[in-house]
Amino acid sequence: MNNKQNQTTDLTGKRALVTGGTKGIGKAIADELARAGAQVIVSARNHPGDGNTEHYFIAADLTKPEQVTKMGQEIMEQFQGIDILINNVGGLTTPPGGFSTLTDEHWESELQLNLLSAIRLDKILLPQMIEQQSGVIIHISSVSGRQPLWNLNMAYAVSKAALNSYSKALATELATKGIRVLTVSPGATKTPPMEKFIQDYATSTGINIEEAFKQLLAQTGGIPMGRMAEPEEVASLVHFLVSPSAAYLTGTNYAIDGGSLPVV
Ligand SMILES: NC(=O)c1ccc[n+]([C@@H]2O[C@H](COP(=O)([O-])OP(=O)(O)OC[C@H]3O[C@@H](n4cnc5c(N)ncnc54)[C@H](OP(=O)(O)O)[C@@H]3O)[C@@H](O)[C@H]2O)c1
Repeated sequence: MNNKQNQTTDLTGKRALVTGGTKGIGKAIADELARAGAQVIVSARNHPGDGNTEHYFIAADLTKPEQVTKMGQEIMEQFQGIDILINNVGGLTTPPGGFSTLTDEHWESELQLNLLSAIRLDKILLPQMIEQQSGVIIHISSVSGRQPLWNLNMAYAVSKAALNSYSKALATELATKGIRVLTVSPGATKTPPMEKFIQDYATSTGINIEEAFKQLLAQTGGIPMGRMAEPEEVASLVHFLVSPSAAYLTGTNYAIDGGSLPVV
């Protein structure tokens, strides 16, 4: 077997959709895939509006099933399908404090944002990937899915754990159809919501930002590398995983966390 053709990270000719591709990790991924030659489509609820219009933009709230359907239709009409799907939309939207602070609505909203948004979009775009017998799907999860912190992020962590399990099951289902499915689990990454999370913690506990970061790190057991990830570092891993160089990888969950997960 000649694997030389597979040893490339060039994405020329590939159509890539990055959900939540206007900010943070999603934006870094969109820019990285475009640099590698892919035609990139990004989605978000709001247009970036800052002159960042180099990628094709679709406005959609992915917690609303009808908007996911409409986005799928626009993609099929404009691009006839997708080769690379990065399900990046997600985030922590519920308050700290454990089980007693979490309402049904909190649980529902975390599941809509972090799990069902990806499941619905995959379901719409997969028939065309199956027909062309190729494609790569990445689910952006979180180390919280493997290390829940009851007092900080219980519902978010549970929704990401469910995403991990779904991603593994989907990978197995699609393994003989030419489609690879992978999970990427970032640890703390320098994006606006993470910076706000640290700022809010500092404000609510009356300490400064540096001390807040230290205390939050202590609750997770710390980051051996002593710093957060840059969004571009996550993007670099995603680029490799969607490329022909990663042709034998499917069903695995990659932590990119500076060594923070306390498991082997
Ligand atoms: N940052 C971290 O430390 C960290 C750590 C582990 C995992 N993650 C995961 O990485 C992913 C990206 O996080 P991030 O920190 O980069 O987030 P971010 O900077 O807030 O970016 C989120 C993106 O998603 C869009 N978005 C948010 N809600 C949406 C919705 N309901 N429908 C459609 N688009 C929506 C946002 O645009 P609009 O607001 O305009 O919609 C934006 O483009 C998430 O899945 C998160 O759970 C992040």
